[in-house]
Amino acid sequence: MVHQTESKHGMWSSRLMFIFAAAGSAVGLGNIWRFPYLAGENGGGVFVLAYLGCIALIGLPILISEILLGRAGRQSPINAMVALADVSKVSRNWQVIGWMGALAGFMILSFYAVIAGWAMAYVLEMMSGRFVGVDPVQAAASFETFIGDPFQVVAWQTGFMMLTIAIAARGVGRGLEVTVRYLMPALFFLLVALVIYSAVTTGRFVEGLAFLFQPDFERFNSSSLITAMGQAFFTLSLGMGAIMAYGAYMPKGSSIVGTAATIAILDTSVALMSGLVIFPLVFANGLESSAGPGLMFITLPIAFGQMTGGQVFGTAFFVLVSFAAITSSISLLEPAVAWVVEKTSLGRAKAASLVGGIAWLLGLGSALSFNLGADWTLPNGFNFFDTMDYVSNNILLPLGGILIAVFAGWRLSDATLQDQMREDQGSFALWRFLTRFLAPFGVLIVFIVTIF
Ligand code: TRP
Repeated sequence: MVHQTESKHGMWSSRLMFIFAAAGSAVGLGNIWRFPYLAGENGGGVFVLAYLGCIALIGLPILISEILLGRAGRQSPINAMVALADVSKVSRNWQVIGWMGALAGFMILSFYAVIAGWAMAYVLEMMSGRFVGVDPVQAAASFETFIGDPFQVVAWQTGFMMLTIAIAARGVGRGLEVTVRYLMPALFFLLVALVIYSAVTTGRFVEGLAFLFQPDFERFNSSSLITAMGQAFFTLSLGMGAIMAYGAYMPKGSSIVGTAATIAILDTSVALMSGLVIFPLVFANGLESSAGPGLMFITLPIAFGQMTGGQVFGTAFFVLVSFAAITSSISLLEPAVAWVVEKTSLGRAKAASLVGGIAWLLGLGSALSFNLGADWTLPNGFNFFDTMDYVSNNILLPLGGILIAVFAGWRLSDATLQDQMREDQGSFALWRFLTRFLAPFGVLIVFIVTIF
């Protein structure tokens, strides 16, 4: 058993603050920007069902595993895996989970900051009133002009990264916890207000609900399945050690299963509620639900532009997105920052700047994918941004997830496992079964189906 009760990086002050932090990591662009457009492209109900299935049967057991491994190891994911491999008397090669995770973290954060930067820019755009009464052609043109300007996109990406670095630099208590303590309640308040606004002003709430839950098999295909699984990993922040890093700061003595279930329910509710904000607006204004990544930046501004109170609520919407993004980006940075702090004599501030700087540099590739670098494409047509997104979400995260499940389910020492799951005797057997069999094989099957 590893006997640390505290991490050297600090601790969450309560179980609730861990839930805020982990839900803050989980709730992000994945819920508000990605989930609705994926649901739109992949046939609504069938996709949502596949997604919910992946969350419950694959995501939740792995979420529990990550929290468990983090809390047992009490260090950055890389070093935690070394320590846990040692106490479990298995190969130290398991630290590959930490290394792959750090790589995935860099890749995700790099493009995440670009999109988050767009959202911040759109707070000002909506506030300025320039979308009031705008028609579809103008809204699309204004988005194209914005992302086509390398200077603007890079400036916003840089601003967002600097914010992320500044929070990470202040440490777990004064940086991360203070941020989630205020932003998470604000986020829920904004979201509820927006759902009500959307329902009341459009009168199309039921249509939005129907779209999310009514299956359209025509649009669902085998690639929808891996998309649903990739989304389940992405939205729960799984497979790269972010939750493991946060778990290292979780106080002992509370149930991991209950905590994980709370986080998964919060995250799923936010995704569905975002759909219930967006689709009624889209339908009421006769717009296309399958607009892809532009759904949030083109379709929504048109909708807000047509509606009373659209300027205020449109601004609120992009504030919501920016808050959600910042509480996620700090978790993408944390595993690597914690590792640098443990490994070198650099303090947190320097570690955060170094790690964030690398992610920023890599992100320039994505920022320029929409303008100067639009021609830098692979034979399949993927630009730099698409490639980062695809490789990290559809390959690295599920692969990391399989390894985490196998390690927690099969290799971790029994003493450590029992010690962490003391509060979860009732659900232990079910968790173990899902983690040993269903989660790894589920991911594997989806991989295989996708390849053939
Ligand atoms: N879950 C976040 C979202 O839905 C993104 C995110 C934060 C993430 N940390 C992560 C994704 C770690 C994968 C791994 O927007």
